[in-house]
Amino acid sequence: SQDPLVVFTPSGKRGRFPVGTPVLTAARQLGVDLDSVCGGRGICSKCQITPSYGEFSKFGVVSEPEALSDWNSVEQRYKDKRGLIDGRRLGCQATVQADIVIDVPPESQVHKQVVRKAATARTIIMDPATRLYFIEVEEPDMHEPTGDLERLARALREQWQIADIRADLSVLTKLQPVLRKGNWQVTVALYRDHHEGPARLLDIWPGLYEGGLYGLAIDLGSTTIAAHLCDLVSGQVLCSSGVMNPQIRFGEDLMSRVSYAMMNPGGDKDMTRAVRTAINGLTQSLSTEAGIDPATIFEAVIVCNPVMHHLLLGIDPVELGQAPFALATSSSLSLRAKDLEFTTLNDRAQVYLLPCIAGHVGADAAAVALSEEPGKSKDLVLVVDVGTNAEILLGNTTRVLACSSPTGPAFEGAQISAGQRAAPGAIERVEIDPVTKEPRFRIIGTDLWSDEPGFAAAAAGSGITGICGSGIIEAVAEMRMAGLLDDSGLIGSADQTGTPRCIPEGRTHAYVIHDARADGGPLISVTQGDIRAIQLAKSALYAGARLLMDEMGVDKVDRVVLAGAFGAHISPKHAMVLGMIPDVPLDKVFSAGNAAGTGARIALCNIASRAEIETTVGQITKIETAIEPKFQEHFVAANAIPHKTDPFPELAK
Ligand code: FES
Repeated sequence: SQDPLVVFTPSGKRGRFPVGTPVLTAARQLGVDLDSVCGGRGICSKCQITPSYGEFSKFGVVSEPEALSDWNSVEQRYKDKRGLIDGRRLGCQATVQADIVIDVPPESQVHKQVVRKAATARTIIMDPATRLYFIEVEEPDMHEPTGDLERLARALREQWQIADIRADLSVLTKLQPVLRKGNWQVTVALYRDHHEGPARLLDIWPGLYEGGLYGLAIDLGSTTIAAHLCDLVSGQVLCSSGVMNPQIRFGEDLMSRVSYAMMNPGGDKDMTRAVRTAINGLTQSLSTEAGIDPATIFEAVIVCNPVMHHLLLGIDPVELGQAPFALATSSSLSLRAKDLEFTTLNDRAQVYLLPCIAGHVGADAAAVALSEEPGKSKDLVLVVDVGTNAEILLGNTTRVLACSSPTGPAFEGAQISAGQRAAPGAIERVEIDPVTKEPRFRIIGTDLWSDEPGFAAAAAGSGITGICGSGIIEAVAEMRMAGLLDDSGLIGSADQTGTPRCIPEGRTHAYVIHDARADGGPLISVTQGDIRAIQLAKSALYAGARLLMDEMGVDKVDRVVLAGAFGAHISPKHAMVLGMIPDVPLDKVFSAGNAAGTGARIALCNIASRAEIETTVGQITKIETAIEPKFQEHFVAANAIPHKTDPFPELAK
């Protein structure tokens, strides 16, 4: 008679196997994604499966007693000691006896799909560079006097097909006591190199290690540093947080930081120290928030613009301040966290930096390309990542162009009179009634609008503290739509606009959104200076996008993806009213959240994506806005709201 048929769900993979074949073996042979850390020894419990019994049209009735073997002693011991969810079995112990349908629950799949929230999101397939392996190492004896490390390497070769490993001195010093304490059974954390080099031994524990394995995805911006703390097994983001980049005190934007380094001997070193200290602090606070030991963070992936990149690495950025804007290196980098003085992570943690595209177009743009994949789009997509420098990509399957445009920090709430970083208490949404000219707003930390019941109580904790980047974008666009601003950006007086909210401010006017001065609180208004800062920022953004469109030979795009590091997602409508982006049907504008941070997260969770982006970056055409005379022309014309000459027919609809 035929061997039993084994069907795995959800993959649908199937095959016939001799009676007595362990389920894990069958899964491996069929290429079913079933996890195992202990290699089938009944210790790690990663291989759990759920046999299905009942009627299956394909092969009749599967009845419980015959389909799988009875519990063996290993499985029984495991169950007694640690318990198993009802109906679950250990795939490495249960053997096939008759036709059977076997379900692999998501926790038992290594290459889990992690679904992202954003509208344009694709899923991330888990396959991180760092993984755990349980091994049994042969004991030494007088006849086989090899070193413990060499026997450990042999065990990895034989039990996990890992060809070669390297170990730092700091892990070598732990090796002998750990091997003996674990009675020659140990768990190791290995960092696999995506360029096929030897794997790096990051840590070793006696017996089965059941602690966490975490990684950081860091978007190092000129104004804010944002980071996600991720579980490297489940792919979940445990928490996300951000801090101001302390380099701001050396200069608001990139070029002023480069000049600081040029004018002050040792200035670059001060900035390097400042950013490394900030990242250490951020790591510490994320770990505390998530309740994990920062020593269980084994990896960090960092994306940043070229100047941040050099300053982080301790490279003087002087060459980036002048043509031809040569980078010290544009390749991706795999470094030790220790070399970057990241003292809060695991001692042997690894850091991966995405490649830079060019002297002005950095690893952050590469991360946006990895996250939004313009090169895989059939229609022509414009991706705009709004920050102190905007990363702009335009492309489709035939060609991708990239540039970076110096928008300044206004979009991140800096250089704005009541501006602040996106944090609880910051106004993130604004609406102005076109008739009464009265505003209503929402702050970060509550879903209620300021005129809804319960708002005051909800806002009591944080207070109403200022306005963040997405808030100022909406405020200015709403002011334009309510007729408080003309197309040159001039705020009208109370007489001209008919609202006492337009107050004198020096020789110009300001519009008051929230005034709590009577209670000792802040005055949150939009001043003429704020409008000018937003106009400069949006003109730079638009000019960059137009430059890429010129190069591509088009005067319109099919789709726009708006991304930004912080705060609420940027509202497509308001971005278009301001003329931040070219005219396109509103339902073709998508908000993607922090695309650069997401790119970092993808590179952290999936080793193959690192090779992918390294190849993609080589195919992107970079445009230097700094030396392009057309840039200035586009910039001036884009100063009007929405634009002096370019039509915006979609806005009229
Ligand atoms: Fe580890 Fe089954 S593979 S318990």
